[in-house]
Amino acid sequence: MSKFMQGNSKRILVPGGAGYIGSHTCVELLNRGYTPVIVDNFVNSSMAAIDRICQITGANDVPVIEADIRDTEAMIGALREHECEAVIHFAGLKAVGESTANPLDYYSNNVQGSLSLLDAMRQTGVGHIVFSSSATVYGTPVSLPYTEDHPLAPTNPYGMTKYAVELMLNDLVASGAGINAGILRYFNPIGAHPTGLIGEDPNGVPNNLMPFVAQVAVGRRPHLNVFGNDYDTPDGTGVRDYIHVVDLAEAHIVALEKLLESPDSFTVNLGSGNGYSVLDVVKAFEQASGREIPLNFAERRAGDLPAYWADPSYAMELLGWKTRLTLEDMCRDQWAWQSGNPEGYPQREVGAA
Ligand code: NAD
Ligand code: UD1
Repeated sequence: MSKFMQGNSKRILVPGGAGYIGSHTCVELLNRGYTPVIVDNFVNSSMAAIDRICQITGANDVPVIEADIRDTEAMIGALREHECEAVIHFAGLKAVGESTANPLDYYSNNVQGSLSLLDAMRQTGVGHIVFSSSATVYGTPVSLPYTEDHPLAPTNPYGMTKYAVELMLNDLVASGAGINAGILRYFNPIGAHPTGLIGEDPNGVPNNLMPFVAQVAVGRRPHLNVFGNDYDTPDGTGVRDYIHVVDLAEAHIVALEKLLESPDSFTVNLGSGNGYSVLDVVKAFEQASGREIPLNFAERRAGDLPAYWADPSYAMELLGWKTRLTLEDMCRDQWAWQSGNPEGYPQREVGAA
């Protein structure tokens, strides 16, 4: 018997659990008495995140399996050895520009990887999966806010891989394989744990707005390039629905419990229903950090949409969940993380769990 298998806590396999959203979800799982069993190949994360998860929650240790989800035998072994009851699946690649340059890497990690994981679940009889999808599956808005029945038309290979996995999950559920699935379409997750101990730690130059702004505030980058100020939006800059990563993490627990309680599957937006512009975010971050963010108005970024936000009402109806944290909370916590860890995670502390 493994040292992690004492007690009655339900064990949940968490592929990608060392990453940004996964690490926050592992904290929420531990806080509610679940044991996350992390599977990660650390292609975009650090072992130090595991130490921090333990530090925040007071856990002595968390099981970690260093493996690629495309290794089906390793997934079968992990599910069996730890007697997992469900899977919360974060593992994959997520950079839109990179997906256009290297589409096969994206289909391999995201689609083949998910197929491998589902095959392992089928072979071991594990019957519940929560999947990280994205608002990017909707593509150019036909109507706003996006509701879950908005047509799906992703405009880049990353979005296509999310769409493909959604289709695969729906077909698997319909086949009567004994698996139910919760597909979560995230809007724009930002922020960090309020302790500032875990947060987003992008490799190289950040692609996304909030980590870029935070790196400007801490002096790692000279200024923010604002991609377009001539959109048909109130201040001309792009509008998005930002969601605090802790709200998002909590939604995963609610979704998991819904799948454990009832046989139904579901697809649901996770957003706040509010749209904020790039300049709104910059202003809120300046206030939270007390730092000035120098701006440079630049060309629109290819592939960007002017504005979109969620209709979050189905999440409330289905899961009784809605966001509770504000843009100010997101900026405050992002700053706690960035100012406490200006270069991101340290090397794993020697001798730590
Ligand atoms: P992240 O890169 O921080 O986390 C992903 C984790 O998966 C990393 O720890 C990485 O090392 C691991 N991983 C990648 N490929 C793997 C593989 N083949 N085998 C094992 N581990 C692998 O990203 P995140 O922001 O935490 O996103 C988590 C999930 O949510 C992803 O699937 C992403 O596409 C999706 N998502 C993210 C956002 C966002 O803005 N962050 C928005 C919508 C959807
Ligand atoms: C991006 C992805 C989307 C993914 C989402 C997750 C693209 C085209 N889309 O969305 O598929 O689901 O991340 O969060 O990459 N901005 C700047 N300067 C910057 C960075 C961004 O002005 O340096 C602007 C963008 O033009 C946009 C807004 O900030 O208006 C948000 O951008 P970003 O954080 O990259 O997210 P999305 O583009 O919404």
